[in-house]
Amino acid sequence: MSKKKIMPVLLGAIIIGGGFLGYEFLLSDRADSPFMFQPENTAVVMQGKIVYAEHCASCHGENLEGEANWRQRKPSGRLPAPPHDETGHTWHHADKSLFNLTKYGPQYVAGPGYQSDMPAFDGVLSDDEIIAAMSFIKSTWSARERQAQDEITGNSVIN
Ligand code: HEC
Repeated sequence: MSKKKIMPVLLGAIIIGGGFLGYEFLLSDRADSPFMFQPENTAVVMQGKIVYAEHCASCHGENLEGEANWRQRKPSGRLPAPPHDETGHTWHHADKSLFNLTKYGPQYVAGPGYQSDMPAFDGVLSDDEIIAAMSFIKSTWSARERQAQDEITGNSVIN
């Protein structure tokens, strides 16, 4: 490539690179948005489907149906895994609390002494993988549940 041609290419790269940087800043500006999940993003949802199959389906069901009789405590006194489809109550909670519950375990929400079979995924899954799994789950809900959960998320206090 001649020197004359390199300059415009370089300039172009700088402008495009700068554009991306600007975009990154825009994204990080949204870090305090209560909305974490991306049910409309096909790539994220596809990744989440894989994470779900590998790390969640054994308890929450291949088809998000949960464990049988999930409302009844087990002989251990612990709750079975609830469904993540619209028959469950996952969609009653804001993005951030679902994320925290998955990352740090139900104890994060219910207090340190709470006994549960739900593991904490901190150190097992990255934040992006947790977000992907929850984005996949959210993508399966009908418009009604999704809208309701969007409202709960939008009204939630970020903590
Ligand atoms: C070993 C079994 C097990 C695995 C694996 C598991 N869970 Fe759970 N999960 C549970 C149980 C049991 C509960 C009920 C918690 C309680 O109240 O004790 C639960 C509850 C939850 C809840 C709260 C739902 C609500 O309506 O309040 C979320 C969210 C959740 N799990 C997400 C996940 C995700 C995402 C994964 C995979 C990354 C996962 N779980 C993997 C057993 C499991």
